[in-house]
Amino acid sequence: MDNWTAANIPDQQRRVAVITGANTGIGFETASALARCGARVVLACRNLDKAKEAAGRIGPDTDVLRLDLASLTSVREAADEFQARYERLDLLINNAGVTGLTGRTRDGFDIQFGVNHLGHYALTGLLLNRMLPVPGSRVVTVSSIGHRFGRIDTEDLRSAGTYAGSKLANLLFTHELNRRLDGSNTVALAAHPGGATTEIFRYSSALFRIPNLVIARLLGRTPAMGALPTLRAATDPTAQGGEYYGPGGLFEVRGYPQRVQASARSRDSGSQQRLWEVSERLTGVVYPV
Ligand SMILES: NC(=O)c1ccc[n+]([C@@H]2O[C@H](COP(=O)([O-])OP(=O)(O)OC[C@H]3O[C@@H](n4cnc5c(N)ncnc54)[C@H](OP(=O)(O)O)[C@@H]3O)[C@@H](O)[C@H]2O)c1
Repeated sequence: MDNWTAANIPDQQRRVAVITGANTGIGFETASALARCGARVVLACRNLDKAKEAAGRIGPDTDVLRLDLASLTSVREAADEFQARYERLDLLINNAGVTGLTGRTRDGFDIQFGVNHLGHYALTGLLLNRMLPVPGSRVVTVSSIGHRFGRIDTEDLRSAGTYAGSKLANLLFTHELNRRLDGSNTVALAAHPGGATTEIFRYSSALFRIPNLVIARLLGRTPAMGALPTLRAATDPTAQGGEYYGPGGLFEVRGYPQRVQASARSRDSGSQQRLWEVSERLTGVVYPV
């Protein structure tokens, strides 16, 4: 479909959606659009004050969950808390991300790799038992055009971290998860926003931040436009497991969301399996599929 917009989202009444990093940027716009269509949205954020303020702007049928993806303890607590409050999960949107940040997570992983990939790997595995009984349930993970420049050293995942590598991991994870979910009620897809005028470059140098934001602004990439590929992957009835959605225009940096092709590296099944095994070992989270 050409020019797919939020107006194409089908009715989401009685559906429950968890969106990580939903207090701002693309996550906020994703949560807002799903709420407008009737979903119960759970804003999974590291800062509860910011989350409550964002929930207030979205509307009454919202909930907040404390989730710091830089701490496996926090991820486990968030999953336990969600399961205590909800019987079902229809949509898990793995959206939160950091770039330009150095340092370690609480568990000693590179911060970008830990937040962007390992935290989401753990969260998804711990929430999956609430998704598997739900027909049409989907896990959508937000990657980036930058995944094309990513490399992953599975021998040294603990310390090997670049933003591009973490975004490649988002896609390797999606493909392997979707394979493991084969025959179940749940599918996994990925999306990327192209670019968007969000706070994503807050930790980056001005040299990197300013041109990126200027280009995104010139191309009209508002956070709401940036959220459309995620929303299409999450709700378009024709979307299938394993698919990847991004802006359909030139170089995938502008336009309405369409199915796009992930890099050959992200589609390598050996790399997908190796990343899965190491992620399982590092987080201690074993999936029920
Ligand atoms: N904007 C772009 O141009 C662009 C391009 C390609 C891909 N993406 C991807 O799009 C996704 C959304 O980014 P955005 O552009 O909306 O950026 P953003 O405005 O910076 O939002 C990022 C969100 O992630 C949250 N977050 C950061 N660290 C976290 C942690 N340890 N635990 C839980 N949440 C954490 C942030 O929370 P706080 O507010 O508390 O920090 C915020 O809610 C990311 O995955 C990013 O990689 C964005």
